[in-house]
Amino acid sequence: MTLKNKKILIIIGGGIAAYKSLDLIRLLRKNNNEVKTILTKSGKEFVTPLSVTTLTNSKTFENIFDKDTEAEIDHISLSRWADLIIVMPTTANFMTKLSIGKAEDLATTVILASNKNILLVPAMNVRMWTHKATQNNVKNLKNYGYLFIGPEKGEMACGEYGEGKMSSPRQIFKYLENYFYKKNIVKINNLKALVTAGPTKEYLDPVRYISNDSSGKQGYEIALALKRFGVETTLITGPTNLIFQKEIKIKKIVSADEMFEEVKNTLPVDIAICAAAVSDFRPIRKNKNKLKKSQRKMKSIEWKENRDILDFVSKNNKYRPKLVVGFSAETKDLNKNAILKLKNKNCDLIIANDVSKKDTGFNSDYNSVQIIDNSGKVQTLKKNKKSFIANKIVETVLKKFFVNDRNFN
Ligand SMILES: Cc1cc2nc3c(=O)[nH]c(=O)nc-3n(C[C@H](O)[C@H](O)[C@H](O)COP(=O)(O)O)c2cc1C
Repeated sequence: MTLKNKKILIIIGGGIAAYKSLDLIRLLRKNNNEVKTILTKSGKEFVTPLSVTTLTNSKTFENIFDKDTEAEIDHISLSRWADLIIVMPTTANFMTKLSIGKAEDLATTVILASNKNILLVPAMNVRMWTHKATQNNVKNLKNYGYLFIGPEKGEMACGEYGEGKMSSPRQIFKYLENYFYKKNIVKINNLKALVTAGPTKEYLDPVRYISNDSSGKQGYEIALALKRFGVETTLITGPTNLIFQKEIKIKKIVSADEMFEEVKNTLPVDIAICAAAVSDFRPIRKNKNKLKKSQRKMKSIEWKENRDILDFVSKNNKYRPKLVVGFSAETKDLNKNAILKLKNKNCDLIIANDVSKKDTGFNSDYNSVQIIDNSGKVQTLKKNKKSFIANKIVETVLKKFFVNDRNFN
C-alpha cells in the first residue's frame, strides 16, 4: 500500500501544532505527492509562508482577494485541483466557522465551495475540545460529511494532559494511505471479469476425444486472485480434476464450441483473461456410437476449425473488455511467438509460458511466465506456485486497467 501521485491541499490553521504540518508536507512530498497550501491569517502567526513555500515548492495561498492569481479564481481552482483537503491543525475557531458555513476568507470559502472530501485534524487544549460548543460543532460537522482524525490523548503544549493533542504527521500519513487504498477497493469492487481455464475436449465418438494436458490450475488461481482483490469473476472452465470453491461463479463446459458460447453469454465484462488451452480444431464428424474397430480403418480425421475465442473477445466491436489478456503456451520461440500472438489477437497483455518443461506449465502446481505488455514491456516471473504467479498477473492487470487513473496505485 503506497501513497503517491496524490494532490493534497493543506489548510494550515492558527494553532500551536501548525509547525507539524511542515512534517506532513515533507512526508507527502518525499513519497511523490503534490502539496498546495493555504495559510490562514492566524496560521501565519505560527508558520511562515517562506518555510511552507520552500517545502511545497509551490506558492502559499493566503488571500481571497489576491490580485496576482485572482483570474484563476483560487477558491474554485484549488478545490478542483485537490484529491483531498486537509485542515491541520483544525482549531476550535475554525470548526465554528465551518459549522455555520462561513466564507470569510480563502480557507473557509474554498471549503464551502468544495465537493471534495475534507479531513479535519483538530488540535486544542483539552477543555476547548471537551466544551459543549466544540462538541456540538464536531457532531454537526460529522453530519455534514467532514472526516476527522484525532485528537489524541496526551501531553499538550500548554502543559496539560488530556484529549486534544493533534494526531502526528505519521498517523495522518497512515490514515491517508488507508483512505486512498479503500477508494481503490471501491473501484475494483465495481469491476467484472471473465477467466477461461482448462482444456477443451473434442469428441470423435462418445468415449474418444482430442484434448491436451492443461490442468486448469493457473486459470483457476487467477480467478481466485481476482476474487480476492474484489473483482466479480466468472470462471469458464473445461474439464479438470479441480475442486472449486463456492465463492467463484463457475461455468463448466467441455468443447471449444461450448466455451465460445459461454464466453459470449458472459460478456460484457471489464477484464477478460483467456488462460484456457482451447482446441484449435474439432473433428467434423462426431460418431453417435462408439466407433468399432472395423470402422476405425479410417486413414484420417477431417477437421473443422473452432472459433477463436480470444480473437472474438479482443476484436469484439460491441463488447470488447477494456482489458484483454491472452495466454501463449509455447514449446519453442517463446517470446517471438507470444509477441506475435499479442499483436495478431489485439491483446493488451499476453502471458507467455514454456509448456515444454516438465516441472512447470501444464499439469504442474508451478509455473514460470513472462507478462508481455502491448507497449513491449516484459515482466519475468521465475518458477513459483501458480497461486503466486496468479497474484502477480492480477496485480499487473489491475495496474494496467487503471493506468490513466492517477489515484490508483
Ligand atoms: C499561542 C497560541 C496558541 C494557540 N493554540 C491553539 C490551539 O492549539 N488550538 C486552537 O483551537 N486554538 C488555538 N489558539 C487560538 C487560535 O489561534 C485562534 O482561535 C485563531 O483565531 C484561530 O485561527 P484559525 O481559525 O485561522 O485557525 C491559540 C492562540 C495562541 C495565541
